[in-house]
Amino acid sequence: MRAKQIAPTMALLLLCSALPFATSGSARADVREGDVLFADFEGETYGDWTVEGDAFGPGPAKGTLPGQVSVDGYSGERLVNSYYNGDGTTGKLTSPEIELTKPYVNFLIGGGGHPGVRFELLVGDQVVRIARGPNVNPGGSEKLDWGTWDVSDLQGKKARFRIVDEETGGWGHINVDQIVLGDKKKSGIANERELTIEKRYLCVPIGQDRPRRWVRVEVDGLVRREFEAGLREENDAPTSRDFVARIDMGDWLGQKMKFVVEKADEDIAFAPLTFSDDAYGEDDAYNEKYRPQFHFCPRYGWTNDPNGLVYHDGIYELFFQHNPFGTQWGNMTWGHATSPDLLHWTEKGDAIYADRLGTVFSGSGAVDVANSTGFQTDPNGPAPLVFMFTQNGPNMRYGEQASQNLAYSLDGGKTLIKYEGNPTIPWMIGGNRDPKIFWDKNKERWVTALYLDGEDYALFASKDLKSWDQLCKIEKLGCSECPDIFELPVDGDESNKQWVFWGGNGKYLLGTFDGETFVRTTEPLDAKWGGNDYAAQTYSDTPGRRIQFSWMSGGEYPGMPFNQQFTVPRELTLRTTPEGVRLNTYPVVELETLRDRELDLTKKVGDSGVEYLAKSSDASSVDLLDVEATLKIEGDETIVVAIRGQEFELNAKEKTIKYAEVVAPLAVVDSKVALRLVLDRTSLEIFTNGGLSQIAKCFVPADDNESAVLEVSKDRVESLKVWTMKSVWNQ
Ligand code: FRU
Repeated sequence: MRAKQIAPTMALLLLCSALPFATSGSARADVREGDVLFADFEGETYGDWTVEGDAFGPGPAKGTLPGQVSVDGYSGERLVNSYYNGDGTTGKLTSPEIELTKPYVNFLIGGGGHPGVRFELLVGDQVVRIARGPNVNPGGSEKLDWGTWDVSDLQGKKARFRIVDEETGGWGHINVDQIVLGDKKKSGIANERELTIEKRYLCVPIGQDRPRRWVRVEVDGLVRREFEAGLREENDAPTSRDFVARIDMGDWLGQKMKFVVEKADEDIAFAPLTFSDDAYGEDDAYNEKYRPQFHFCPRYGWTNDPNGLVYHDGIYELFFQHNPFGTQWGNMTWGHATSPDLLHWTEKGDAIYADRLGTVFSGSGAVDVANSTGFQTDPNGPAPLVFMFTQNGPNMRYGEQASQNLAYSLDGGKTLIKYEGNPTIPWMIGGNRDPKIFWDKNKERWVTALYLDGEDYALFASKDLKSWDQLCKIEKLGCSECPDIFELPVDGDESNKQWVFWGGNGKYLLGTFDGETFVRTTEPLDAKWGGNDYAAQTYSDTPGRRIQFSWMSGGEYPGMPFNQQFTVPRELTLRTTPEGVRLNTYPVVELETLRDRELDLTKKVGDSGVEYLAKSSDASSVDLLDVEATLKIEGDETIVVAIRGQEFELNAKEKTIKYAEVVAPLAVVDSKVALRLVLDRTSLEIFTNGGLSQIAKCFVPADDNESAVLEVSKDRVESLKVWTMKSVWNQ
């Protein structure tokens, strides 16, 4: 591998030819006009480099080596990776001589950061520069990143590069790639813009196919917002996945701000930044091909868990885990929407941003009716809304462990103010997170359920939401994350109530709670059996009803500027069954208000069963449906039902309902099964026997519309009502 002076056209050629080969490392513009590419390690051997020991293997590695955490960020197909046969091997790799003709040496580096792993620059026998990977502790990342040596003082000198691996323990390896001599630095560089904050929202054009970089928005020299995003460049035509992210900068109106894109050359022309008075602009959002039509999903970006669910003054508040800057998980922020009816949502812009304590993870909300927090200082003002949530430092690159924090609103949820004494529960253990608060009327104090670690949870109590004491632990729930706890009447009998303790994947315990200790009276039971349904949360302050939203985790929305949706809102009740008291899940009654027309169906009986067909004038609108059906099941038979190409099986012998990989229990009562099917553009929710079991699944619809509304493998439908549903957007 000889030093190559890259002539302008060659440099371009090299760049283009690198693109198709970029495997896990992204293709990068890492060789510029005039640069000297000294080594790209794309050959099968090390060429004229001298190899000592066995750490480097027979030649540059094709990315990750056996047993290694996935290596990322290298250029092209191969790199130097001294993990050959694991961390136990050692060795040295020394380059031929090169004349230092440029002021900077840029290189990609990753792996261990111990003294024994080094990338060195030698002049004669003297080591004049050293670089190492970032990792010394267990965990960490195998991602290579740019390093730069300023060698302006060594111009004209002859030098050699040496890659050394003398470490045999954890992180006893080093990864190096793409050694380039250049006129510009590649690490420590930034692309900066200075602007005056003219209006409340800073509009940032997102380019989802552009490399993700860390961005800081600074005011007065302090970092006010920080996120990782792909940014659109000036000449990029937006793809269908691109959008404009809007960041609330209202606290600094009229002031100067700096927009700093890390590790980006100063001459990259990013698309212009603008300002707006609105959290969202006038555009075509909610009209996309795969946009759910009556399920909540964010206008742009990613969501996962529902957060801060609280009802007050006729408004349902819905906060949600939001990445405002891309359609993948990350930059966790609380997005915000409100609705008068749990169905029609107006997005309000993001409500809680990350800060020094970390990105904003899941949490809950309630009305502080008694003003226990003292946040409301106006005796005539409304009761504060209070929110407790986790912040996770490592996602912000600051390394602080997850802590529990408090925010409140004195203007009915429009503005959330972080409590200045945060954190309220400092880090305790593992990834402790997801506090769910409620007001214990009997003890006149707050209780929060908190996920600790493994399969363990705990309850804490507080008079003012600011200082907390642990009450009890709830161990071995059989799942992790996102607890919920509430009391419900059994079969509607207010004099016979039981407590429910709930975990992230829908396992729950029934039990008693005396204000101090939760005592389980059952083993962990299931309220869901798989499918796209996770991290559910119920509303606070909804008198007489327990209403839950769940994240339909794992749904796919190809080419869309948003990602993920919630289930329909559903009411939870406790009902007595032959197996004991069980939690029931059923759509809230409000969902029926979206029913548009009842379809007049034609029944066609054939060899393979029965088809219910819509009139041709209706056929185009059968992708949004609400169905109520009663099927007769004789003996031990199996019946297959299909709606819009989604097939599921009712199995009377096994007493199961099977939909894709999900198998849920099925009760056949008096030889009958009652079904409720809620079909949206990208999801189907099935409820059996009034909610005794339920399955929520996402799908990507086929392009050709199915004309049959419902297909049933046997002629067993006793009653059937099908309504088309209205969209909740753009009305
Ligand atoms: C569950 C979860 C929570 C966490 C949040 C982060 O999906 O992992 O435990 O608070 O998502 O986005």
